[in-house]
Amino acid sequence: MTIRTIAKLAAGTALLALSAGSASAQDKSVEVLHWWTAGGEAAAVNVLKENLEGEGVSWTDMPVAGGGGTQAMTALRARVTSGDAPTAVQMLGFDIKDWAELGVVANLNDLAAEEGWDDVVPAALQEFSKYDGNWIAAPVNVHSTNWLWVNKEAFDAAGGEEPTDFAGLIAMLDSFKEQGITPLAHGGQPWQDATLWENVVLSVGGMDFYREAVIDLNEEALTGDTMREVFDHMTQLATYFDENFSGRDWNLASAMVIEGEAGAQQMGDWAKGEFLRADLTPGEDFVCMRFPGTQGSVLFNSDQFVMFEVGDDQREAQSLMASAVMDPAFQVAFNTVKGSVPARTDVEDTEFDDCGKKGMADLAEAAESGNLAGSMAHGHAQPAAVKEAMYDVITQHLNGQITTDEALERLPQAVASAQ
Ligand code: GAL
Repeated sequence: MTIRTIAKLAAGTALLALSAGSASAQDKSVEVLHWWTAGGEAAAVNVLKENLEGEGVSWTDMPVAGGGGTQAMTALRARVTSGDAPTAVQMLGFDIKDWAELGVVANLNDLAAEEGWDDVVPAALQEFSKYDGNWIAAPVNVHSTNWLWVNKEAFDAAGGEEPTDFAGLIAMLDSFKEQGITPLAHGGQPWQDATLWENVVLSVGGMDFYREAVIDLNEEALTGDTMREVFDHMTQLATYFDENFSGRDWNLASAMVIEGEAGAQQMGDWAKGEFLRADLTPGEDFVCMRFPGTQGSVLFNSDQFVMFEVGDDQREAQSLMASAVMDPAFQVAFNTVKGSVPARTDVEDTEFDDCGKKGMADLAEAAESGNLAGSMAHGHAQPAAVKEAMYDVITQHLNGQITTDEALERLPQAVASAQ
């Protein structure tokens, strides 16, 4: 079923729900669809749940496992199609715009005006929180994908120097191999393959190249020598995976680094949530560093909550939830657990650990220097169809099903047919 067919069905349901709800009393409960099911993620979601319960809003959990949210978005389509949209949904980037276009999400302008969201949410996020100039999402955080998470003992044994380019990364991975551990813990799922790939694109080509290839989808950039180098580097990185990488969940790859079975994991900063849950301390037990060659740049993704039109009787609960999400103290409490940084620019970094402080400083610096761009793997560079077309080529290549030559030929084709 296409998203447009869903729109037609959903428009009918939203109207029904509105008229049915208008006569009844306010229902102070929310049903929240999200994909935060790993240990660190669940701990963060609990912070939100408890906060809302403190406001008298009861929480019905609708977790849909699957990092990156692809499965959650499939579940959402099914719910909306059957006329039973959840109250609030965790969503990323272009997906927010797609649902807004269908006219099935609630307008948050009044609350945003009352609380001054315009002044505290950075422009890069507002791009996705607003549709047609109207607030339709409340951003809870900013994650970034270009990080490497390293086991401290293995790091020290490798010389204790942070690599600053791709060659340096390879030297460190070689040392991990000599130490007898898996050099790079990877979860072979399309969204994780794509997360690694976008890091390599940024490392090899820099921010201008990332923009040309991934955001502008420039054909020369997608097929040229720099992209060839990217795919060759992906092949090289795959030689550092263990043999069971295929299909592994991202948090299990984090666990390998936590346990010292692996030296490093390339992953967004939600991985830090796993390290913290295991009672590890940054700088002592693990090291967070920008993926070698990407220092000074940030690829971001922001989790936002979108309220669906589910009836007037739920408006108060939706408003309380959106307000809770945007509360500065809540953003500190939530993001110190989640591994992300606040979506507001007026929050101090005092409560954050060293990685969080670095994340906040890097974000501000990258925004200032023009080196901040949306993550493709996490829905902030391209709409879902193009993103998934790119996933396919990247994954087939990483699994050795197609050669680098074939990947270079197929990438622009896949992208073009998805547009
Ligand atoms: C990202 C999301 C994060 C984290 C991650 C893994 O797309 O923004 O909050 O949950 O997926 O599940």
